[in-house]
Amino acid sequence: MRNLNCYAVVVPGLEGLAADELHELAAHDVVMGDGGIAFTTSMDGLFRINLRSRCITRVLLRLSSSKALTFPELYHQVRKIGWQHYLGEGVSVDVKASCHRSKLLHSGRAEQAVLDGITASDNVRVNASGEIVQQVMLRIDDNICTVSIDTSGERLDRRGYRKFSGLAPVRETIAASILRWMQWTPDEPLIAPMCGSGTFAIEAALIAGKKASGLQHEFPFVRWPNLKQKRWQRALQKAESMHSDARPQIFASDLAAGVLDQARENATLAGVFDHIVFAQLDARQLTVPEGVEEPGLIVCNPPYGDRVKGNVALLYRQLGKQFKQHFPGWKMAVMVPDQDCEKALGLPVKKRLKIKHGGKWLNVLSV
Ligand SMILES: C[S@@+](CC[C@H](N)C(=O)[O-])C[C@H]1O[C@@H](n2cnc3c(N)ncnc32)[C@H](O)[C@@H]1O
Repeated sequence: MRNLNCYAVVVPGLEGLAADELHELAAHDVVMGDGGIAFTTSMDGLFRINLRSRCITRVLLRLSSSKALTFPELYHQVRKIGWQHYLGEGVSVDVKASCHRSKLLHSGRAEQAVLDGITASDNVRVNASGEIVQQVMLRIDDNICTVSIDTSGERLDRRGYRKFSGLAPVRETIAASILRWMQWTPDEPLIAPMCGSGTFAIEAALIAGKKASGLQHEFPFVRWPNLKQKRWQRALQKAESMHSDARPQIFASDLAAGVLDQARENATLAGVFDHIVFAQLDARQLTVPEGVEEPGLIVCNPPYGDRVKGNVALLYRQLGKQFKQHFPGWKMAVMVPDQDCEKALGLPVKKRLKIKHGGKWLNVLSV
């Protein structure tokens, strides 16, 4: 029964890719917005999405949505929600509100009205200083107040393997989404020549091994009094049993030895160290690795460094040249911060994906 109204938060720019993935996993009535996707699903679907999605940041479960023009109206709306299903003993609640184009614009007062409504609900004992925090979100838009409860806890891109990261690492969700966008499959070799903390290579190895991304994650719904334990255990067992022996050829390299050590540590934590061939290499001298017979995919997040712009553009030029000369038949996805770097790369662009990364919009080019 798909009776749950949900909203997936995604990195701006990844909406289309995430919507496809959600649909494949368990989502219906998918509606894309800026930075998020509304959908319906069942409780099993919600478990599956949280455990297996590689592209989304978190899932909110919508509990009520109605018009309120005063804080007391908002309070009464919140009070009517069956909080006893979600808030167990000893849980403290943290409310975050965002208000737009509405009569209620004071987010602090709106948060207090929600908290008061929760505290006043029947059969709920909110612990003001409990260690376990359940996040509740309020969004007020055109006077419609939507109250949601967070189902994901920590952001889903934090898979738990990246204890070490160099400069400007891409989120795991961005790396997985770019691999999806490039339609990479484990039968193709993959090279990540400026691998940094190893995110692209590790995500590729996890995709190939069909390893569910949320297995190490702590989900707040496991503490909900209404949790159907058996169904959750079944979803968990199914996710744990997903497994493939596929061993694609994955190569990760970086110029910096220290960074490469971090990538190796991360791959070890992710359980895929021996699935990746690591090497200290200058991407400007990259050639097809030994033993690779078919063309594959290169995926690359070069440094952007605003202060050394000239050098960075030069790096893109050399990368473009190397690709043209040594990789006939290969595909490459490159993250580029601006027009100058795109021009310097000097390769015809087949498609582009605009995403927000580190607070800035940038293009990912498929060449
Ligand atoms: C923006 S970071 C990549 C971040 C990475 N995608 C991650 O998730 O951690 C750029 C990386 O390029 C590496 N680099 C810079 N110039 C290079 C070159 N000529 N050859 C290989 N790696 C290079 C840097 O050491 C750095 O780790």
